[in-house]
Amino acid sequence: MLLSCIHVSRKSHAMRLDKFVCKSTQLTKSEAIQRIHQGDISVNSEITMHEATQVHENNIIMFNGLRLKTREFRYILLHKPAGTICSNVDEAYPSLFNYLDIDRVSELHIAGRLDADTTGLVLITDDGRWSFNITAPTSHCRKVYRVVLSKELAVDVASKFEKGIQLQGEQHLTLPAILEIISPSEVRLTITEGKFHQVKRMFAAVGSRVLSLHREKIGEVNLDIDVGLWRYLTSDEVQSFGK
Ligand code: URA
Repeated sequence: MLLSCIHVSRKSHAMRLDKFVCKSTQLTKSEAIQRIHQGDISVNSEITMHEATQVHENNIIMFNGLRLKTREFRYILLHKPAGTICSNVDEAYPSLFNYLDIDRVSELHIAGRLDADTTGLVLITDDGRWSFNITAPTSHCRKVYRVVLSKELAVDVASKFEKGIQLQGEQHLTLPAILEIISPSEVRLTITEGKFHQVKRMFAAVGSRVLSLHREKIGEVNLDIDVGLWRYLTSDEVQSFGK
């Protein structure tokens, strides 16, 4: 269910002509390429037959006498319930995308997946460059998790997490992480990377098991809606991940 309806766009950027045609029509990629090869598309009054040509929203791109305009990118925050999966299709569990009652859901992807049993903040978009800013290992984007543990943590765990943990099967230590103790078996953990099952593996490495995991925050974006609801990000939230 949509909570509010602030649908923001973001400064447009260059993209391949075939992608532009797909984003502005109902054509699939192969249909768009076929039309380009047939000479049906012009860019600034010149027929362009190369699908990889870089174009920009400001170029005048015509198809069948109509000027093409790309749709605005979409940036969505969803409060993931437990027992759903971060995949575009249902598998062992229903897809998170069932909660999005909007068009063209198949064009969306998730910027930083959560396990089926993890709850909390998921960012969803159709802007691949934007999501790359969040998920690229070099972006060091901060993620904050609330974690319930099977038993009390040893007193030195916070400093171990600060120094970096050796995860099984990994070459390098984890990057410094901040552990805030809420109660003897409940903590808030801030990490700046996103290795596979990272939080569960970090606690496993110090002899503890995660009973429940909930993502509260990514970058500057806080989870502020109830479970199962979604909303569009504000313009400031979109821009906060930079470019
Ligand atoms: N780390 C995990 O172990 N699981 C998640 O879902 C997210 C981070």
